[in-house]
Amino acid sequence: GGHGGHGGGRLTFTAVPPNTDDRVTVPEGYETAPVVRWGDPVLPDAPAFDFENQSADAQAKQFGYNNDFVTFFPLGGHRGLLWVNHEYTDENLMFRGYTNGDAATEEQIRIALAAHGGSVVEIERVGGTGQWRLVTRGRRRYNRRITALTPMRFTGPAAGGDLLKTAADPAGTTPVGTLNNCAGGTTPWGTVLSGEENFNQYFVNGNGVPEAQKPYLSRYGVSPTTGVPAGNRRFDRVEERFDLAKHPNEVNRFGWIVEIDPFDPTSTPIKRTALGRLAHEGATTTLARDGRVVAYMGDDSRFEYVYKFVSKRRYIPGFDRHNRTLLDEGTLYVAKFTGDSPAKEIDGSGKLPSDGSFDGSGQWIPLVTGGISHVPGMTAQEVLVYTRSAADKVGATKMDRPEDVERNPVTGGVYVALTNNANRTPAQVDEANPRPANKHGHILEITERRDDAGATTFSWSLPLVCGDPNDPATYFAGFDKTKVSPISCPDNVAFDGDGNLWISTDGNQLGAHDGLFVMPVRGPERGHLKQFLSVPVGAETCGPLVSPDQRSVFTAVQHPGETNGATPEAPSSHWPDGGTSQPRPAVVVTWHRRGGKIGS
Ligand code: FEO
Ligand code: CA
Ligand code: CA
Ligand code: CA
Repeated sequence: GGHGGHGGGRLTFTAVPPNTDDRVTVPEGYETAPVVRWGDPVLPDAPAFDFENQSADAQAKQFGYNNDFVTFFPLGGHRGLLWVNHEYTDENLMFRGYTNGDAATEEQIRIALAAHGGSVVEIERVGGTGQWRLVTRGRRRYNRRITALTPMRFTGPAAGGDLLKTAADPAGTTPVGTLNNCAGGTTPWGTVLSGEENFNQYFVNGNGVPEAQKPYLSRYGVSPTTGVPAGNRRFDRVEERFDLAKHPNEVNRFGWIVEIDPFDPTSTPIKRTALGRLAHEGATTTLARDGRVVAYMGDDSRFEYVYKFVSKRRYIPGFDRHNRTLLDEGTLYVAKFTGDSPAKEIDGSGKLPSDGSFDGSGQWIPLVTGGISHVPGMTAQEVLVYTRSAADKVGATKMDRPEDVERNPVTGGVYVALTNNANRTPAQVDEANPRPANKHGHILEITERRDDAGATTFSWSLPLVCGDPNDPATYFAGFDKTKVSPISCPDNVAFDGDGNLWISTDGNQLGAHDGLFVMPVRGPERGHLKQFLSVPVGAETCGPLVSPDQRSVFTAVQHPGETNGATPEAPSSHWPDGGTSQPRPAVVVTWHRRGGKIGS
């Protein structure tokens, strides 16, 4: 254990062994239970969930599918609000007999549109324990569903630009809906930032965009060809805007960071164009030394980049009207990582370079400041709408799928989850991405110059190179590898009040289920990674969130039962309802039976 302020909260629980059980497994002495499941009531007039009789009207009032980012806002007393992202839909698990988007009923397509987005739900503490449950009675004045059909608005330098204009919105300021909301963060003024990630998958007829835009479209994974890409949900059959032959700019209206005010159910969500357009994993904020707001962001695709936005003006506590303009004006940067060891020493064997670590220095390269582009040949609007192409031009470092990026509130270090990259060749390894065909991913730690989040230079190192600890190509910050848990494919990162790093995984390549892990980042226990929970068959671990009082940890169990060939006739998971039930994505809470701190 460590001393307060050094990131060494005591993690004395017994690690959960890797397993393939169809349940949420927690350490001895802990309990776990669902808080809210797909289909549970969000709006007071929501009908009871009925898998066999679904409707779009019902879904628009019920908890959506595939819960991902989770955050918590205390309401005082024993109440709180959860914001939860609903990333995507698994129609083949949601509907009996589903084959593809062409054959889907229009009602199924409308249900899917309504199952995307996010939810605000009121929850209450159970007794004096760390357990929380959904409030299902009373007014629930904050409860809200946001979907692929919710009216939104654009702000920032690209709002109103030609690239965002459509027939339905000739001013280019009022996009409709949000899609593929993956991870996220919160702001100091109490709002949510939600990342639109793999938005490319929702469009058809990519050939419809103007010639000049086709290279950019490909850069975002939209095929510039005629027709329907495999697996497409055919949203265009009920919302014509998803057909790029008819509405070529509609695709530019997704891929943003969306700000939502969970305390005002009548507020219009805002797509903040100053933060750029990527496959946004999420955005997490902190303050620079001088009070400017900094948002860290990852672009989750192979060989993509790490970004940060620094506001022009300072955060002023309590000055809400001012603070809510901060994410509209500032500088968007992309990261370049330079190793400090000879390139020939980075050979993919896992052997540390002669200086003892994968580490080096780095630079935040400015892409755009307000309406001024720093990228030759691109306007400010182009940099914001085609941010990937802008980053290509300035020599940023191509990473192994940058997912969550978050600052440790205790140590000030910034942590990046790099989930994996099967496509990196031996010739493409560098000190920040040191393994070819990186199956298991790694964690990168950034130390900003003078610990100032507003700095433009930094140093970095890799505290964790994931995999089976018996694999010589893994590294657990030098900790005794006989004492750590295997880990594969880190996705989300979070911190508890002691500064311990919590990591959830997506796509474990070691044969066991995904899970939630925790590791101290300072002191003698640095690198002592332990598995805290595991998730059911086919599921990915999202969230996670340790409550401010450290008595509860919320985890989003995403896509239980999502295995090859699984259908409602032959489900591979019956979690969480058991028996012969259909699997349902759900947020769970885990707490210590005797009221101990999470991790004790
Ligand atoms: Fe939706 Fe990058 O995980
Ligand atoms: Ca080095
Ligand atoms: Ca994720
Ligand atoms: Ca993921």
